[in-house]
Amino acid sequence: MKTCRTIASLRRALAAPIPGKGRVGFVPTMGYLHEGHLSLVRASRRENDLTVVSIYVNPSQFGPGEDLGRYPRDPRHDASQLRREGVDILFMPADAEMYPPGFRTWVDVTGLDGKLCGSSRPGHFRGVTTVVLKLFMLLKPQRAYFGQKDAQQARIIAQMIRDLNLPVRLRVLPIVRDADGLALSSRNVLLSVEERRAALALPKALRRARALIEAGERDSRALRAAMMAEISRQPLLAIDYIAVVRLEDLEETARVEPGNTLVAAAVRAGRTRLIDNTLSGEIEC
Ligand code: PAF
Repeated sequence: MKTCRTIASLRRALAAPIPGKGRVGFVPTMGYLHEGHLSLVRASRRENDLTVVSIYVNPSQFGPGEDLGRYPRDPRHDASQLRREGVDILFMPADAEMYPPGFRTWVDVTGLDGKLCGSSRPGHFRGVTTVVLKLFMLLKPQRAYFGQKDAQQARIIAQMIRDLNLPVRLRVLPIVRDADGLALSSRNVLLSVEERRAALALPKALRRARALIEAGERDSRALRAAMMAEISRQPLLAIDYIAVVRLEDLEETARVEPGNTLVAAAVRAGRTRLIDNTLSGEIEC
């Protein structure tokens, strides 16, 4: 595995022709890798000739007072996992590479970015789309891999790809969970034992919503109420949002439309914010 820390060295690594390594798969990450990330890496390895992973804790997607400073990091362990997985190139840029002095260009996917997570994290998705577009421009991947846990992020990236005619195929892979149901997230390590136990109400609430939908429930209010009842049983959790939205525009919908509905929730456990969802439909472009 070649590790590149600068854009110049990444360009050199990508320019050197590698026989039979034409199709590039890209997995953008912020590191502190878990099985969810590795599932993306494995899919990229299966579907492409060359796999590039980026590890970059992108400061522009963290608001003031958010957890940029305490975001977990372990680049050595990450690199050894990626080497074991057979990744070809690891890109680990410094802030000065990605946002040199005088940086002024931002990418806004308007209309989708202010809802759900965007309403309590203003500017978050602008930071995400800007860094992802920069990475796409540098790497020119044929396919890019994202996890469904960040469903709004994936939907926004799909929109950006469509609107800007980017020659990249988005692949959104299923949420990977711990044995107890908690969606894997780099932030889970920040939870205390009690917070982690309480956080299980989040996947439980989503399982309840899924079961209700499968039993024929279409009323969004009923789904939100069932989820609210589950989560509010846990005094350690503060609900940020519980939403039933159309996948196409992330607007609240009164009725579940099979094939076009995202049921999503975000909670805070202490200082840690957790998200999870269940999806009826596909995020693609
Ligand atoms: O999902 C993430 O880890 C980040 O938002 C991403 C896509 C790597 C952009 O910084």
